[in-house]
Amino acid sequence: MNALVLACLGMTGAGWSAQAVAQTRPLASAPKGKTSGEYFKNVTTATLKPLTPSDFIGAMGVMTAAVGYDCSNCHPGAGTDKFDWVSDAIPQKVTARKMIDMVAAINKNFFGGAQQVTCWSCHHGLDLPTTSIALDKLYGEPLDEKRDLVLPQAGEPPASKIFDQYIEALGGAQKVAAVKSYIATGASRGYAGVGGSGAFQIYAQVPNSRGVWINFPEHPDRGTSAWTYNGNTGWISQPRAYIPIYELTGSDLVGARLDGVVGMPNQIRDAFATWRVGAEELINDREVYVVQGTAPGSGVLATLYFDKQSHLLVRFVRRTPSPVGRITIQQDFDNYKEVAGVKFPFKYSFLWLDGRFTAEINDLKVNVPIDPAKFGQPAAN
Ligand code: HEC
Ligand code: HEC
Repeated sequence: MNALVLACLGMTGAGWSAQAVAQTRPLASAPKGKTSGEYFKNVTTATLKPLTPSDFIGAMGVMTAAVGYDCSNCHPGAGTDKFDWVSDAIPQKVTARKMIDMVAAINKNFFGGAQQVTCWSCHHGLDLPTTSIALDKLYGEPLDEKRDLVLPQAGEPPASKIFDQYIEALGGAQKVAAVKSYIATGASRGYAGVGGSGAFQIYAQVPNSRGVWINFPEHPDRGTSAWTYNGNTGWISQPRAYIPIYELTGSDLVGARLDGVVGMPNQIRDAFATWRVGAEELINDREVYVVQGTAPGSGVLATLYFDKQSHLLVRFVRRTPSPVGRITIQQDFDNYKEVAGVKFPFKYSFLWLDGRFTAEINDLKVNVPIDPAKFGQPAAN
C-alpha cells in the first residue's frame, strides 16, 4: 500500500492526510508515463522531478513524517477547500526544497550516491533538529532504533530453514501448496476507534494476485478503497486522497507485487534470490528471527519477522526507495487459525507513514473462484 492510503479511510493516526487532502480532488487519475516534473506545476528539484506522481506523493509523506508536519505546514490551505499545492508562499516549503537538494548532494558527494542520509537522519520528527545530547538521555535507555539494512548475523539459522519451519507451522508443504486462492472477510477499524468500522476483504490467488477492499456500509459516501495487483498491473483507489485512483508504477508496483507474494506463503522464499538473516529482535516481548531480501537494482527491501517459538510470520515491513528516504509500510499478523488444514492470520495491522488500522477476519474461504475484477482496476468512486 502507498503512503496515502489512509487518506481515503479517514482513519489517520498521524493525521495529516485525511484532513489535508480531503476535498482536494484536482485529479481524476494520475496519467501513466508522466514524470512529476511534467505532471505537477512547480516541481523543480533534480531528484523529485523524475519520480512518478505516485512515488512523488509518497516522498511528500516521507518528508512530512520526518519533520513532524502535516501537509498544511508547507502548502497553504491543505485540508481546506482553499488549498494551493503550487504556491511557494510558506517559507518552510522553500526551505524544504533546499533540504531536498542538500540531501541529494550529501549522498552524492560523501556516500557515492547511496542513500545514507535522509530527512529523518537529522530531523527525527522535529522541524528543528536537535544539536546536542541531553545528559539524562546519555545515561538513560539505550536507543533501539534500527537501520533499514539488516546485516547478516553469525549463528542464526539460514533463511531456508526459517522458511521451512514457517511452512511446517502453517500446516506442511503439501497442504500449503494446495491453497490456490482464499477470500478473507472481516471488519477494519482505525486506531482508537477513529474512522468507524469498515467491511474488509482480502482476495488472494497464486502466484501473487491480491486485492484488499474496504467500504463503509453505514457511510456509503466514503466510497470504496482498494489496493489491487494482478501479477502485472496494480491500482490504488482512495476516494478522499490527492490522487483518488491511480495505476501503480515505479516503486509502488514493486511493493504491490511483494504484498501479493507475502499473502501466498508458498511463494515467499522465491521472491528474492538471496535472503539475509540478521540479529534476533523482540516483538511484543517475543523473540523473532529477522529475514531480509533485497531486489537488486530496485532498492526495495522486504523484512520478514518470524516468531522463534511458533515459527509463524508476525511482521512484514517493506521499504521502497524515494530520494528523501524510504517509504515504509508494515503489516502485522496475529491470531492464526486453521482453515482447510492451513493456518491463516485472522488479525491484521496495517501501518504506514500517515496512518494505521487493524482488521479482524471472521470468515475465510479457501480455493473459491475469485472474480478477476477484484485484482484489477477499481471503478471510480
Ligand atoms: C516540509 C515541507 C513540505 C511538506 C510537509 C509537504 N510538502 Fe508537498 N511540496 C514541498 C516542496 C518543497 C515541493 C516542491 C518540490 C520540488 O520542487 O521538487 C512540494 C510539492 C508538492 C506538490 C506539487 C504541486 C505542484 O503542482 O507543483 C504536491 C501535489 C504536494 N507537494 C503534495 C503534498 C502533500 C499531499 C503533502 C502532505 C502529505 C505535502 N505535499 C507535504 C514541500 C512539502
Ligand atoms: C544534515 C541534517 C539535515 C538533513 C538531512 C535535513 N535537514 Fe532540514 N534542517 C536541518 C537543520 C539543522 C535545520 C534548522 C536550520 C535553522 O535552524 O536555521 C533544518 C530546517 C528544516 C526546515 C525548516 C524548519 C523551520 O521551522 O524553519 C524544514 C522544513 C526542513 N529542514 C525540512 C527538511 C526536509 C524535508 C529534509 C529532507 C529532504 C531535511 N530537512 C533534511 C538539518 C537537516
